[in-house]
Amino acid sequence: MSEKLVETERLDKLFVMGGETIKAVDNVDLVIGGGEFLSIMGPSGSGKTTLLNLIGCLDRPDGGRILFEGQDVVRLREGELDQLRLRKIGFVFQTFNLLPTLTALENVTLPMIVARASPSGREKRAREILSWVGLSHRLAHYPRQLSAGENQRVAIARALANQPRLILADEPTGNLDSKSKEEIAHLLQRVNSEHGTAMLLVTHDPIIAGIATKTFRMVDGKISDG
Ligand SMILES: Nc1ncnc2c1ncn2[C@@H]1O[C@H](COP(=O)(O)OP(=O)(O)OP(=O)(O)O)[C@@H](O)[C@H]1O
Ligand SMILES: [Mg+2]
Repeated sequence: MSEKLVETERLDKLFVMGGETIKAVDNVDLVIGGGEFLSIMGPSGSGKTTLLNLIGCLDRPDGGRILFEGQDVVRLREGELDQLRLRKIGFVFQTFNLLPTLTALENVTLPMIVARASPSGREKRAREILSWVGLSHRLAHYPRQLSAGENQRVAIARALANQPRLILADEPTGNLDSKSKEEIAHLLQRVNSEHGTAMLLVTHDPIIAGIATKTFRMVDGKISDG
């Protein structure tokens, strides 16, 4: 394995609901090496999304540490976390989460506007990535005018916009038919091999998990090999 990109140490996340405490993430130690492709499987409610949200700095842990490129993210201020998320991490969701009022090109350009890339550079890059995901003929389409598989391609292009080191994908093929599932799985594999982006993918589908080089199992907030 190359250098450690992310390392979690004894990571915990609790939810208190009506007097009951749920340990959604329980003492998780996980290492993501630079350029690695990992997947996580496990039953509904086992804490997979909660773990991704912690690693993606969308939520803060109740215990333990998360090191991103050796830096303890739990100590970062909100503004620093925003920058880390914007520049180092790409997110891909089951429901795509594209902005409905923006075209494919605009959706992919948006993270670069937020990152203050130059106007000419960001449009050029958005066109290039959309072409790379096979959508140069759909630049002006809105999400409602695109198929589910095409929407997920736009979402993957958006995730790549600022050249992140890590992509977190939460059931990225969960809303797709079997043909699009295969295409998206193949595309994620290409992101990993051609861009060298590390991937952490949550899935219920053993075939999708099979494209990862290592698969973890999550049960009751705890993670184990295979
Ligand atoms: N914001 C929240 N408030 C209270 N409980 C929560 C919250 N988010 C998650 N939980 C609980 O934490 C546990 C883990 O939830 P999580 O969404 O991480 O599961 P999951 O493995 O992603 O499930 P699925 O496969 O259905 O997506 C569940 O018991 C859930 O009900
Ligand atoms: Mg989930």
